[in-house]
Amino acid sequence: MGGYDEAYRHSIEHPDEFWAEAARGIDWDVAPATVYGDGRWFPDGRLNTCHNALDRHVAAGRGEQAALIYDSPVTGVVRTFTYAELLDQVARAAGMLRDLGVRAGDTVVIYMPMVPEAVVAMLACARLGAVHSVVFGGFAARELAVRIDHARPKVVVSASCGIEPARLVEYKPLLDAALEQAGHRPDRCVILQRPQCQARLTEGRDVDWARAVQDAEPAACVSVAATDPLYILYTSGTTGSPKGVVRDNGGHAVALHWSMPHVYGAAPGEVYWAASDVGWVVGHSYIVYAPLLAGCTTVLYEGKPVGTPDPGAFWRVVSTHGVRTLFTAPTAFRAIKKEDPSGSFAKKWDLSGLRHLFLAGERLDPDTYHWASDLLGIPVIDHWWQTETGWPIAANCVGLESLPIKPGSPTRPVPGWDVHILDADGGDCPPGTDGAVTVKLPLPPGALPTLYRDDDRFRRSYLERYPGHYLTGDGGHLDADGYLYVMGRIDDVINVAGHRLSTGAMEEVIAAHPDVAECAVIGVADQLKGQLPMGFVVLKAGADRDPGELERELTALVRERIGPVAAFRRAVVVARLPKTRSGKILRATMRDIADGRPYATPSTIEDPATLPEIAEAMGGK
Ligand code: COA
Ligand code: AMP
Repeated sequence: MGGYDEAYRHSIEHPDEFWAEAARGIDWDVAPATVYGDGRWFPDGRLNTCHNALDRHVAAGRGEQAALIYDSPVTGVVRTFTYAELLDQVARAAGMLRDLGVRAGDTVVIYMPMVPEAVVAMLACARLGAVHSVVFGGFAARELAVRIDHARPKVVVSASCGIEPARLVEYKPLLDAALEQAGHRPDRCVILQRPQCQARLTEGRDVDWARAVQDAEPAACVSVAATDPLYILYTSGTTGSPKGVVRDNGGHAVALHWSMPHVYGAAPGEVYWAASDVGWVVGHSYIVYAPLLAGCTTVLYEGKPVGTPDPGAFWRVVSTHGVRTLFTAPTAFRAIKKEDPSGSFAKKWDLSGLRHLFLAGERLDPDTYHWASDLLGIPVIDHWWQTETGWPIAANCVGLESLPIKPGSPTRPVPGWDVHILDADGGDCPPGTDGAVTVKLPLPPGALPTLYRDDDRFRRSYLERYPGHYLTGDGGHLDADGYLYVMGRIDDVINVAGHRLSTGAMEEVIAAHPDVAECAVIGVADQLKGQLPMGFVVLKAGADRDPGELERELTALVRERIGPVAAFRRAVVVARLPKTRSGKILRATMRDIADGRPYATPSTIEDPATLPEIAEAMGGK
């Protein structure tokens, strides 16, 4: 394999050649004659993603190799599925969905915990050419309802419950509540009954997963256009309505398949573990699709880094399943470090098979980098990407060439990604100068072609600010060696424990409280979770409220409307919010105050006295 510089240059100067070569790693029903045309990758190619993830490996003799290891400390179950077994289950589940009327192009919402059936349901949709939309289990009924209304699924697939260390989360009542709130009615709901909790099924609408799968005839793969959607994944934007990121079949399969050996250095037959959740993009790309496209064994872990049962949980999984590549969020390592600062639990397990630790989802702070690196004695690789991009934009591509690591930087742009740091006028910033991190168009295969049923919002959100470039929403800089430093979002998206959330959505919920006149929610730095949301609330005239009681009410409201994953627990009452003369809330300055950074009073401020008021209100918080 050539070095990084050569591969990168080739990908930018001759993208057609570069991606045509990568496309040879995929089985096509109709091989694409055109690599890129009309703004889409492989526009005349046809394939099936599930075939590439399962059938072709079985046909090539990998049938008896483990495809998926389900390891669930919260239920005490460990179960391995070979490629042949997984294919059988997926083909039957596809048959079940087909019996329920699901056809190519239909949407299916999947609202499930980290159980093998979630992966099976995703691949079954792919097999039929249906479009799945997985909703993370930590969201509340209302968020699920919003997604159901937008995706308009023919069928919803769910389970009786999820299992959090401290409680059972009954999914079925949440689904029922969501369907009551939603305007759209799916034809059917398929419910997986877990032994921990039996859900009450609604006659005529709900179907029992086990029974329906048992009765179903296996379905064959349906050939789809490379440009047909594989899935929709809703992610937080700056408002309360989430963005439906669309992923196509062809570009996605090519890019993810390419990324496994080149970015991650992972070979077929190896065990690859992304400790994330199928509800997030990391779960889609690196629990489900990429490892299977590459013929690896993937691990589906239903547990936490700590408390299931102890901070040695990750080391047990790595050691017992022979994990070669581990991928998780820095917050997971901060959680382990907090409970086991000396790393004593890691010493109880044989970790000699682990070759690389990849971290993403939020900025990797140098402290966590050094701790993980000293503990494991292997390369710890920060890499940066987003739901929209589907795979890494910047990384140390260890399969191409291991570049020197600079703590605090996710190294250099991955081949295919032409990263530019732009100033307010659209000019390239010199090395070392912060600006907006953008990617020159076209984006490589695998990145979103649009937002579901909202081309307009796609253009407005990503393409309008800097014509010819994709706006990532992150700020940062390149150094003189071309290393990228991603410093944080330049919009109202925050990152709580590696989970992407919208402060705008929380503001909408808080503003609906009867005593609240207006409010602002910002992300403030937190040692464990990276950021935590914090609300600043102005009361309506005449509302005389005990601040502690109001805080509890607002906490409950955000939990009920957005979900526990928002981790909203702090709200302070202020007399006024700092604003510009045109009425824009000065959130960036509020963040500086909250994080204890020196702040400048913006010249556009309406009343400078509002800033010390914020600092004072935060005293004690
Ligand atoms: N279904 C239902 N509820 C869920 C859930 C799910 N799938 N996932 C999380 N929740 C709930 C939790 O129970 C918790 O509720 P609580 O307020 O009642 O305690 C809340 O949402 C917040 O969960 P979480 O973010 O997991 O925080 P935590 O305090 O329980 O654990 C960490 C902290 C750091 C251990 C945990 O956040 C973690 O493992 N993070 C890694 C994140 C990650 O993998 N991100 C993916 C990007 S790579
Ligand atoms: P998500 O879409 O949930 O994957 O979140 C994407 C956002 O998480 C990015 O826009 C960044 O703000 C942040 N992020 C992800 N990975 C990194 C990283 N390695 N370094 C810094 N920020 C990151």
